[in-house]
Amino acid sequence: MAATHTAIAALAKGRFDAIQVERAKPGAGEVLVKIAYASMIAFDTYITDVGFVVVDYPVILGFNGAGTVAEIGAGVTSLAVGDRVTGFQPYGQGRKDGPKGTMQEFVVMSAFTCAKVPDSIALDAAATVPDNFITSFYSLFDQLALPIPTSFPAPSPPPNHDTPILVYGAGSTTGQYALQLLHAAGYTNVIATASAKHHALLRTLGATHVFDYASPTLAADIARAVGGDGKIALALDAITAEGTIARIAEVLSPQGTVALLLPIKAGDKVAVGEAPMYWEIPADQNPLPASTTVKYVRTFTYAQNEYLKNNLMPKILPDLLASGLIQPNRVRLLDQGTFKERVGTGLDLLRNNKISGEKVIVKVP
Ligand SMILES: NC(=O)c1ccc[n+]([C@@H]2O[C@H](COP(=O)([O-])OP(=O)(O)OC[C@H]3O[C@@H](n4cnc5c(N)ncnc54)[C@H](OP(=O)(O)O)[C@@H]3O)[C@@H](O)[C@H]2O)c1
Repeated sequence: MAATHTAIAALAKGRFDAIQVERAKPGAGEVLVKIAYASMIAFDTYITDVGFVVVDYPVILGFNGAGTVAEIGAGVTSLAVGDRVTGFQPYGQGRKDGPKGTMQEFVVMSAFTCAKVPDSIALDAAATVPDNFITSFYSLFDQLALPIPTSFPAPSPPPNHDTPILVYGAGSTTGQYALQLLHAAGYTNVIATASAKHHALLRTLGATHVFDYASPTLAADIARAVGGDGKIALALDAITAEGTIARIAEVLSPQGTVALLLPIKAGDKVAVGEAPMYWEIPADQNPLPASTTVKYVRTFTYAQNEYLKNNLMPKILPDLLASGLIQPNRVRLLDQGTFKERVGTGLDLLRNNKISGEKVIVKVP
């Protein structure tokens, strides 16, 4: 009989629990990871609370996990049993045949979505990195088409290194990686918005100017920092809600490009409960002029870019972590109570928008 282990899964809309699942074997190009820590993101609440994009229950939660390689599948040469890794699990949890979530003791992952973790970094910190690091890298260097440096830090400044680039909602964990990547790539005029308590940290991560997104004078403040016509050509909306898109519309050049992290949320928060979410800006409420370019970012498909598939997690991230150019997010560690209770606490924090500048990490089991 196959070995079993504990997983935390959504069982129906509004209901989750601990379940026993069979331990899968890694197939070609895959590895089995013994998970030590898994992170939680708002998407876990979308699945649990509203059944967002769920096709079949149960849905094992979790998109990121850090642990130790327990078994390797055929053809895997980049990783070995015993390696400390942190990995990203693209969405598939809502389909019976899709990848399973990381909120379980063992999970099969594609080797190319796993990065080796340098000894200097603890596994709980490493678990904060994958999804939002990939999202930031993919948004900047694929969707917004910034050139990928030959190495990090960039050996020479990129073309237009002083062009203003806006990272809206840089207090988010995604925003923090975007600032660090822009800095390592040599960009010198990065404008960030975040609540005031994050400003000092965000400057150390690479922001040139930081403004409070709640300020009534935000657009004027940004325009002053930008100079010229006061408009910005490139923006990453690291929150992507109706409210954040509206604020960006005030400062984006009519010929500018903005990357939006799907789904678009009603209101102006990351978690919106039962309020609607959209896959594109509804035409009747689009604050952006038709001349702007909107890039709808779907990190789950980042590996369609072959270069990123072969390099981002296998090579680029381990180097960035080892050199200290990418610092993991601050950890909000949930290690008390049962496995289910830890996940319950994390869901509560996320659904009530109680997370600020840190990542929810669950000790497994
Ligand atoms: N499409 C994709 O593939 C993809 C991938 C990853 C993430 N995402 C999306 O990206 C967003 C960020 O994810 P995350 O995990 O990085 O989030 P997170 O770290 O949980 O975000 C929390 C932060 O959001 C900030 N925030 C909330 N409302 C804001 C607003 N109106 N304006 C500016 N900042 C605001 C808060 O900043 P303060 O502390 O400064 O208030 C808080 O620190 C989420 O909406 C997620 O769904 C999409």
